[in-house]
Amino acid sequence: MERWVGRVALVTGASVGIGAAISRKLVQNGMTVVGCARNVEQIQEIANDLKSEKGKLIPMRCDLTREEDILDVFGRVKKELGGVDVMVNNAGLSHNAPLLTGSTQDWRNMLEVNVLALSICSREAVKQMRERNVDDGHIFLVSSMSGHRVIPNSPGHFYSATKHAVKGLTDGLRNELREIKSHIRVTALCPGLVHTEFQKRMYQSEEMGNKICSMFKCLEADDVADALVYALGAPPHVQIHDILFRPTEQIS
Ligand SMILES: NC(=O)c1ccc[n+]([C@@H]2O[C@H](COP(=O)([O-])OP(=O)(O)OC[C@H]3O[C@@H](n4cnc5c(N)ncnc54)[C@H](OP(=O)(O)O)[C@@H]3O)[C@@H](O)[C@H]2O)c1
Repeated sequence: MERWVGRVALVTGASVGIGAAISRKLVQNGMTVVGCARNVEQIQEIANDLKSEKGKLIPMRCDLTREEDILDVFGRVKKELGGVDVMVNNAGLSHNAPLLTGSTQDWRNMLEVNVLALSICSREAVKQMRERNVDDGHIFLVSSMSGHRVIPNSPGHFYSATKHAVKGLTDGLRNELREIKSHIRVTALCPGLVHTEFQKRMYQSEEMGNKICSMFKCLEADDVADALVYALGAPPHVQIHDILFRPTEQIS
C-alpha cells in the first residue's frame, strides 16, 4: 500500500457501514480520502477520530440522486486536491420493493443510487485520472452476492437486478479502459450479508435489522474494507476482477 500514501480516494456512502470502514482503512494507510454522503456530520465525526492517523478524511455532502451534487464534489476535489486516484463506489441501498407490489419511486431511487450515480462517478473519476496522466488509478464497485444470483426473497428482487447491472458495468468499464490502452484497474466487491445499517434501512425497522443480522455470524464492514485493501495493494500488473465472499454459515 506504500505507493498509495498521499494519493486521493473518493468514497461514496462514507457516513456509516462499509463506506465508513473503507474510509478508515484508507486513511490509516496514508491516503487522503474524500468521504461523501448526505449525513456529512457523521463523516466529520469519523474524520475527528482519525486526526492522529497517517492520512486524512475530508467530508463532502452529496445526495447521489442529484447529478449536480456529484459534479460539485468532483469540481471541489479537482480544485482542492488535484483529482481522484481511487474511486470507491460504495453507496447503495435496497427498499422493500417486490416486483409485483413495489413502488416505482423506490425502484427509481435504487436505480439512481446503485446504478446511475456509480456510472457517473466512474466516468468523472476516469476523466480526472486521464487529465493528469494517472495510469495506475483504480475504480471499485461495491456490488453484492445479489449481483451473481437471485434468491427467492421478493423484497430484494429489484435490488438484485440493480446489482446484476453492476456486474455488467464492471465488465464494460474494464473493456473500455483496455480499448484506450489504459492501465486503470476495475474491481467489484461482492459480499453476502454484512452487519451494517443496510437491513434496518431496507425494512425501516431496527428490530428487523437486528433479527436478520443475528441469524448467523455475518461479515463485518471491516472484512469488506480488508478485501478492498488487498485488491488495491496488488501489484499494478494484477487486476483483481471480482471478489465474492459470504459469511461461512450463509446458505444462499
Ligand atoms: N450490508 C449488506 O448486507 C450488504 C451486502 C452486500 C452488498 N452491500 C452493499 O454495500 C454497500 C454499502 O452498504 P452498507 O451495508 O454499508 O449499507 P448502509 O450501512 O445502509 O450504508 C449505506 C450508505 O449509502 C449512503 N447513501 C444511501 N443513499 C444515498 C444517497 N441518495 N446519496 C448519498 N449517499 C447515499 C448512505 O449515506 P447517507 O444516508 O448518509 O446519505 C450510507 O453511507 C451498498 O452498495 C450495498 O448494496 C451490502
